[in-house]
Amino acid sequence: MLRLEAVTAATRDRDRVRALLRRHGVLHLTGFTGGDGGLTELAGWFGRPDVVFPREHQVPGRPVLRLQSNVPGLGANAGGQYWHADGSYAEVPTEVTLLHCIEAPAASGETLFADMRAAYRALDPELRELIDGRTAFYPCRRIAARSMAVASAMKTVRMSPEEQRSKLAELRDVHRPLVREQPDTGERALHLNERWLRTIDGLDEARGARVLSRLYATATAPQRLYRHRWTVGDLLIWDNYAVMHKAVPVAGAGRKVTHRATVAGRP
Ligand SMILES: [Fe+2]
Repeated sequence: MLRLEAVTAATRDRDRVRALLRRHGVLHLTGFTGGDGGLTELAGWFGRPDVVFPREHQVPGRPVLRLQSNVPGLGANAGGQYWHADGSYAEVPTEVTLLHCIEAPAASGETLFADMRAAYRALDPELRELIDGRTAFYPCRRIAARSMAVASAMKTVRMSPEEQRSKLAELRDVHRPLVREQPDTGERALHLNERWLRTIDGLDEARGARVLSRLYATATAPQRLYRHRWTVGDLLIWDNYAVMHKAVPVAGAGRKVTHRATVAGRP
């Protein structure tokens, strides 16, 4: 079961916060008042924060903070509405994500978290044996090219052709392990992604699809999920080794605005 540790914004002990994150996978800081400067500083406790791409999604004056909302034209819209770990498409995926809630809808718009360490432990031994040491294929270039074409056609992202080309040039098709070890603790966790992960290496497509559906079923079993209902001032910090997550769309007219920072893992 995923445990959530509430700590206050007054917690200024970097080593303690890092240790809590390793243990719990998700930290919930209530009433965070540090603003964009505080968020940037906190992100730096976990490594060097990533510069946000495309630039139009940056919080003005804060290149490492991404503005996200369900308001058309305000930052990145409608991202992450599928089970994923952040940055799975990048050569070095995201290790830590920080998400600060600026505006929250009265209902809906939650973020769901699945505990991937517990999921790994809950797998049938025969399934665990099949996936230990096995990789899956992430055809990132093909998927990104298609979604950029769709985003351009729908005008949801205003990226110049040069920006699109440079982003695509950075992407590689990658093979990632289905089971990863958290570098600090050595703890094993399942590693999945509903958008980028397409097939399992060494299994034919039909068998791979059956295996994936069993893995997702185990990972998203209700007893291993945490549903975060957002309140203004919430700051969630999560370890992408320990959990995967999914955004629930905002229903009706409510507004949801968040600022996000990510820190890449170790290659
Ligand atoms: Fe995400």
